Amino acid sequence: MKVLVLGGGGRESAIVWKLLQSARVEQVYCIPGNAGVTRMATCLDLDLKKPDKLAAVAKDLGVHLTVCGPEQPLVMGVADAFTRLGLRFVGPSRMAAALEGSKVFAKEFMSRHHIPTATFAVCETVEEAKDIFDSNLLDGFPVVVKADGLAAGKGVFIVSDREQGLEVVHALLVARKLGESGRRIVLEECLTGVEASFLVFTDGKTLAPLVPARDYKRLGDGDTGPNTGGMGAYSSPDLLEPGLQRKIVRQIVQPTLMGLQAEGIPFKGILYVGLMLTDQGPKVLEYNVRLGDPETQVILPRLKTSFVDVLSAIADGTLETLELKWSDESAVCVVLATAGYPETVTTGSVISGIEQAELQPGVLLFHAGTKRDEAGRLVTNGGRVLGVTALGDTLAQARQRAYAAAAAVTFQGKYYRTDIAAVSPLPR
Ligand code: AMP
Ligand code: GLY
Repeated sequence: MKVLVLGGGGRESAIVWKLLQSARVEQVYCIPGNAGVTRMATCLDLDLKKPDKLAAVAKDLGVHLTVCGPEQPLVMGVADAFTRLGLRFVGPSRMAAALEGSKVFAKEFMSRHHIPTATFAVCETVEEAKDIFDSNLLDGFPVVVKADGLAAGKGVFIVSDREQGLEVVHALLVARKLGESGRRIVLEECLTGVEASFLVFTDGKTLAPLVPARDYKRLGDGDTGPNTGGMGAYSSPDLLEPGLQRKIVRQIVQPTLMGLQAEGIPFKGILYVGLMLTDQGPKVLEYNVRLGDPETQVILPRLKTSFVDVLSAIADGTLETLELKWSDESAVCVVLATAGYPETVTTGSVISGIEQAELQPGVLLFHAGTKRDEAGRLVTNGGRVLGVTALGDTLAQARQRAYAAAAAVTFQGKYYRTDIAAVSPLPR
């Protein structure tokens, strides 16, 4: 079977690596991939923002199955373009991808279907935002301000008072700092608790939960500094108690999928629910319509079922016949980023120590922003450079292995958090 993977980050490295463990997979193509993926798959440098072109290329290559990593192509309708050409695709339609592509759509959808989430208001003008700040709707400050559209993890601001709030509102609605993504905003009650990422595979009829993972979104140790795409993650058997997982499925995942169906927009692919585990139970922070990054780097190493079988079952609507098996090991991923991320990205620093890092037991090195320069040297090519993942019998062992490997890799300006997975298990 020929499989095409869309994307070029750590998540896609993990997807390609996992697909190749199946004997049914003869060849993997990846658009655009990265320096690590080129060792495993044929990388094609094509524009992910051209859905019809991607579908035509896949058809020419005789690809049997395509899976999309990042959100933007999905929000632009890449699944629809592949379906129009009769190609098997894992990922939701443009309409269903609006769950991630528009925070206004997502919040109003949750309201319609009584899915637990933070109280909110939608604003299009500074005046409307002022009125909300001056009302008691959101329970006082802090308040969360979110741009409606995609913003690569940079569209969410937690503001501590009215003045700061108005500054952010002005930057989004008037100065258009995030362009069209900030044409409308959501103002939201600030929730407190522990965050967890809960993902399910679904073919539109059946859902199959993945093992839960915890993502570390903030740049600095102790969850300080700006939000990023994710600085690390872990997944371990005791991360979320089974009763709580069942509650999340019953109160959140099922109503979401049924609500979509009722609105005539069935969802096929991977639904990712970002949750805050509050004193009043789990509440939705956001939906993503794809695998998370770096979460995928700790989830897929724990999957024992053939991944291509899972993806095929999603595309073919036969998920009901498949039983997912997961390993009892723990996995930890430490993201190595470049200094300046997420504000600025420096590229072109030579990376060394990869071989030593990969020699450590249980270690998997997933490339993200890497490429070969003209001299053939491995160099940095993005904010998040490598996901250093390790499996272990215990979380502590996985963590120790991941950090030993993270220390072995060097490049100028290497930055990583030192507290990934240094936590007690989440509440029950
Ligand atoms: P989102 O992209 O909506 O998930 O937001 C990114 C991050 O901002 C989340 O992972 C949370 O850490 C934080 N966040 C978003 N919404 C809220 C909220 N209502 N209360 C507290 N934190 C939030
Ligand atoms: N790690 C968060 C995300 O993939 O959106």
